Amino acid sequence: MRRKLVVGNWKMHGSLAQNKQLLDALIRKLEPLTQADFAVCVPYPYLFQTQAALQNTRIGWGAQNIAKHQVGAYTGEVSATMLKDFGSQYVIVGHSERSTAYCESDANIAAKFASAQCSGITPVLCVGETLHERESGLRERVIAAQLDAILDIVGAKAFATAVVSYEPVWAIGTGFSASPDQAQSAHAFIRQRIALLDESAAESVRILYGGSVNPSNASQLFVMPDIDGGLVGRCSLNANDFEAICRAAC
Ligand code: PGA
Repeated sequence: MRRKLVVGNWKMHGSLAQNKQLLDALIRKLEPLTQADFAVCVPYPYLFQTQAALQNTRIGWGAQNIAKHQVGAYTGEVSATMLKDFGSQYVIVGHSERSTAYCESDANIAAKFASAQCSGITPVLCVGETLHERESGLRERVIAAQLDAILDIVGAKAFATAVVSYEPVWAIGTGFSASPDQAQSAHAFIRQRIALLDESAAESVRILYGGSVNPSNASQLFVMPDIDGGLVGRCSLNANDFEAICRAAC
């Protein structure tokens, strides 16, 4: 039985003062909830603050991107071992806001996935189609290509301890979530694709849904058999909304 997981993606939001309020509230609200796992992925400068606040709690934390290299002359990059120094347990890789804006290749994303796992950090791999791809009937072909690019490099076994997040690009930050049935069919497709190579990895990989998850749609999404939780952007910045979404996973 897979435990549900809800991950907040703070994106480029926050300040020391705002984070303190949000983290204090999350500790109060989420600590009593023991039936699912929760984490926040924060901007790099706030990892220290987040670690200090959350280290003796059940709430995990991590970052939103990682370098594909372990060390070296890579100006502006942050390595897996650096994230580990701040206790990070999770890192998002391949989020569409990065892969589009910075033209990130599948090979790069695969290298980041591997680099995170090498340091004992769980990668949260984002896949998903654009509106145009969906309307052209290409959803499954696009997701398969994104997944296969990573599977080819890291192997299916690596997915047993990883997290995949299905994030239809048209649902991110738009207020238009995928319906539970739409999301379920994409999640089942992702799991089957991994099962073709490794059934036990497919059984254990947690597949989150991301894209306009909110307190009103979370429980209908999370009740679907292949939806193992959510990757939450906007609503992770509000403690009451995030709590309601986390409760829907319990
Ligand atoms: P959203 O973002 O919840 O604001 O749509 C989700 C994401 O980008 O991970």
